[in-house]
Amino acid sequence: MSRLEDIQSRVEDVLTRKRMFEIRDLKKRFGSKDVLNGFNLELFEGENLVIMGKSGSGKSVMIKCLVGLMQPDSGSIKIMDKDITTLNRKDLDELRTEIGFLFQGSALYDSMTVRENLEFPLRRHKRKLGVIGDTDQLVEEALENVGLLSTIDLMPAELSGGMQRRVALARALILRPKIILYDEPTSGLDPITAKEIVELMRRVQRQYQTSSLIITHDIDCARVVSERIVLLVDGVDYAQGTFEELAASDDEKIQAFFK
Ligand SMILES: Nc1ncnc2c1ncn2[C@@H]1O[C@H](COP(=O)(O)OP(=O)(O)OP(=O)(O)O)[C@@H](O)[C@H]1O
Ligand SMILES: [Mg+2]
Repeated sequence: MSRLEDIQSRVEDVLTRKRMFEIRDLKKRFGSKDVLNGFNLELFEGENLVIMGKSGSGKSVMIKCLVGLMQPDSGSIKIMDKDITTLNRKDLDELRTEIGFLFQGSALYDSMTVRENLEFPLRRHKRKLGVIGDTDQLVEEALENVGLLSTIDLMPAELSGGMQRRVALARALILRPKIILYDEPTSGLDPITAKEIVELMRRVQRQYQTSSLIITHDIDCARVVSERIVLLVDGVDYAQGTFEELAASDDEKIQAFFK
């Protein structure tokens, strides 16, 4: 294939793939600080998209705007063709059942057992649950899937950091979301446990054919899981490409990520 044909086929591929979400010209400031200043992003069906950006660059702010936990100052956010800024509470809640969110940290509820942590989203979204059935079985399956069925009656404090992350992932997956958002899934873990989490993410992707957005500082994680990387620099989507494309760039701000 010639270079031109190659580019044409890639453009075609992108245009025919379904968009899972689309963020346009997102702006958010705190006080006098412009955190997001015209940020754009789209996630295509089935893809693993990695976002990288320095600490404090606005990655978590962006993801919170995306799920409606934070109100942007301006810009548009569409999730599966629905404009989330115009949805009422009920419709937004329903749309949220399509999205699994692994918070930065693991954010399990400390005062609930592992079982209760996993039941929580099920109870909140009874309507969707009507379609997928029995809760005990779902909780057990979800834990088995991350290799932690034996922890079902433990409290989060009794688990290691890596185990907590896996339970949080099980919880994020329990409603069988179409989109999964991972905010720093490997941070604070030792390299071996981090690798296990990355493997788990890849397995989830294959098993459920989800579309994933992964925020990470971890260059190894980015290299292994990403099909495409977007760099968030100075409040905008500064650059995008495959890991190899970006790593080969001679732009100083891009290079800074790969040193
Ligand atoms: N609720 C808030 N009120 C005021 N400022 C905030 C709020 N949330 C975030 N910020 C500010 O917005 C900026 C971006 O924060 P954010 O948490 O998105 O960074 P990040 O890219 O996720 O960083 P990290 O890699 O450390 O997680 C920071 O300067 C932060 O202090
Ligand atoms: Mg963050």
